[in-house]
Amino acid sequence: MEPKELLSIIKGRRSIRKFLEKKIPEDHLRLTMEAGIWAPSGSNIQPWQFVLVRDSGLIKKIKLVSPGLFGNPDALVVVCVDRDRYEKAGKIGYTMSIMDASMATQNMMLMAYGLGIGSCPIVSFNKLAVREILELPENLEPVIIVSLGYPEEWPHPPERRPLSEVVYVDGYGKHYRG
Ligand SMILES: Cc1cc2nc3c(=O)[nH]c(=O)nc-3n(C[C@H](O)[C@H](O)[C@H](O)COP(=O)(O)O)c2cc1C
Repeated sequence: MEPKELLSIIKGRRSIRKFLEKKIPEDHLRLTMEAGIWAPSGSNIQPWQFVLVRDSGLIKKIKLVSPGLFGNPDALVVVCVDRDRYEKAGKIGYTMSIMDASMATQNMMLMAYGLGIGSCPIVSFNKLAVREILELPENLEPVIIVSLGYPEEWPHPPERRPLSEVVYVDGYGKHYRG
């Protein structure tokens, strides 16, 4: 693959908030979650646990307690972190687990995009309520919900801050000019 192709995949993924009423094949959901577990993980603790939600009744219930969940996705992946795992990394364990969960999420969203599936990472949801709906044990904390479905459209990309503003070279304030 040309490096530019990978960049165009990364640039092409969008947060999707309007979905078609179309089922995602099981094997595509599997591939998406497989991409998730291949994310890097601090000390390779792999603190994540995914709850795949396909039942439309459950999705509706989760929607009711999730102000940040838009549209009617076909499936959700509720990305949780497992305290019993991240505690092994000591004080920094929880912070690392959030990083790990975020990387797994990005992997899943990119894989989904590669399969023509739209996604959105959602943090605006009621953790307690989602815990109850999914009957999660105390050690599992849901941290990100990934909605999945075929997009009604691929929206225009929201603007990015330019590299010249984001990157400093060899110390604070020395703007990148590359
Ligand atoms: C940590 C995080 C939390 C987010 N939470 C929500 C959310 O609750 N609801 C939502 O619609 N989008 C959410 N988003 C998606 C962002 O709004 C979106 O990524 C951003 O506007 C850039 O658009 P793009 O993903 O299409 O490039 C979240 C993104 C991140 C990284």
